[in-house]
Amino acid sequence: MSAPTKRLYIKTYGCQMNVYDSERMADVLAPLGYGMTDEPEGADLVVLNTCHIREKATEKVYSELGYIKQMKQARAEAGASMTVVVAGCVAQAEGEQIMIRQQAVDLVVGPQAYHQLPELIARTHRKRGERLAADFAADEKFDALPVERNPTGVTAFLTVQEGCDKFCTFCVVPYTRGGEWSRPVETILAEARDLAAKGVREITLLGQNVNAYAGEGGLAGLARRLAKIEGLDRIRYTTSHPADMGDDLIAAHAELPQLMPYLHLPVQAGSDKILKAMNRAHTAESYLRLVEKIRAARPDIAMAGDFIVGFPGERDADFEATLQLVREVGYAGAFSFKYSRRPGTPASALPGQVADEVKEERLARLNALLDEQQRAFNASQAGKVLPVLFERPGRHPGQLSGRSPYLQAVHVDGPDRLIGQIVPVRIEAGSKMSLAGVLEMETA
Ligand code: 5AD
Ligand code: SF4
Repeated sequence: MSAPTKRLYIKTYGCQMNVYDSERMADVLAPLGYGMTDEPEGADLVVLNTCHIREKATEKVYSELGYIKQMKQARAEAGASMTVVVAGCVAQAEGEQIMIRQQAVDLVVGPQAYHQLPELIARTHRKRGERLAADFAADEKFDALPVERNPTGVTAFLTVQEGCDKFCTFCVVPYTRGGEWSRPVETILAEARDLAAKGVREITLLGQNVNAYAGEGGLAGLARRLAKIEGLDRIRYTTSHPADMGDDLIAAHAELPQLMPYLHLPVQAGSDKILKAMNRAHTAESYLRLVEKIRAARPDIAMAGDFIVGFPGERDADFEATLQLVREVGYAGAFSFKYSRRPGTPASALPGQVADEVKEERLARLNALLDEQQRAFNASQAGKVLPVLFERPGRHPGQLSGRSPYLQAVHVDGPDRLIGQIVPVRIEAGSKMSLAGVLEMETA
């Protein structure tokens, strides 16, 4: 863990329970760069861990807060900031009232929510326009959106949303990228029209939480308007969070032929205990019901997911629940990761970190199942005629490479002039990575 860069002062009132809780709070905040200091003066973060046993104790807290307020003001005048948190039983009992009575208080947090302190503090900083990024490297693996542009110009990415408000406990993105932010509809439409005019037939809307797109009409509204653009025949979007998969967006999948039947909807794990520790805001059951609803709207939709194995506290039975969920959903594609401890994230401070050999073994088992599903899905296309958008020449002379509606790579023999066109292809075989087929008619 890196050396502390920020000062944390915790004042503990009352019982032994509070002493223990204060230590826990220090523990969850240490990964964020907070080291303890003995006095509130000059502290970046002040936590009063309060006790509610007697009336007098509550009054003592308010009088302490009056004193802290002066220090906060002095710090502000010096160009620095101080975040003031009231925790403990007074927080529980009085709630937001405390912030009304003493405006120097930024955050009130009850004993049930201490594990969320990093999230709550990050949110507080965001409201003030500050970011908590100082302790996170800028080139985080899971942070950046893909920016690759297709050189053939037949397909293109278009960023519509950035940032994340979800605070999954393993993830750096909410801290490094900041809050969810959406581009206005009109600027997106203008860019899409321009791309279509330049020959782009398929766009993939990008966002860390793309289906939380908050421009007018939401992502469904945006898709409906994009679908009206001449020449834009295919629309995709990635990545989505289950919590933002609203009815309107599901309905758009039934309604818009341009919206491709492929959905990347990460679930991460299949055990409710782990999902809760991940702060995922869904259960295995609610995810399965959601997939059911999406398939009711668009029965042929291909589902893809992200998975993390070896999250802290993951036991064999939890991992089995992930395999079970994968069997129930049936994925056409997936990305799976070994849990990686990201300094500064709440999960990095959790007990029960899983040994690397165990993670390795679980990842191998999960991948074997996911590979098998992907292979089966691809093989099931044999004999069908699929519209394929040809993107580029294939690896061998005379070969073309394109994509099916389900995002499968498709290889056929055909002339280069078909690049940029959507052409029916009779699929002959499907392997793990791609489909092989023949042009249905040589007329295009
Ligand atoms: N460890 C492992 N996988 C992670 N991801 C994000 N953070 C971590 C981490 N700390 C994965 C999630 C997410 C994808 C983009 O990266 O599965 O959906
Ligand atoms: Fe990270 Fe995605 Fe969770 Fe946001 S929703 S915190 S980007 S994993």
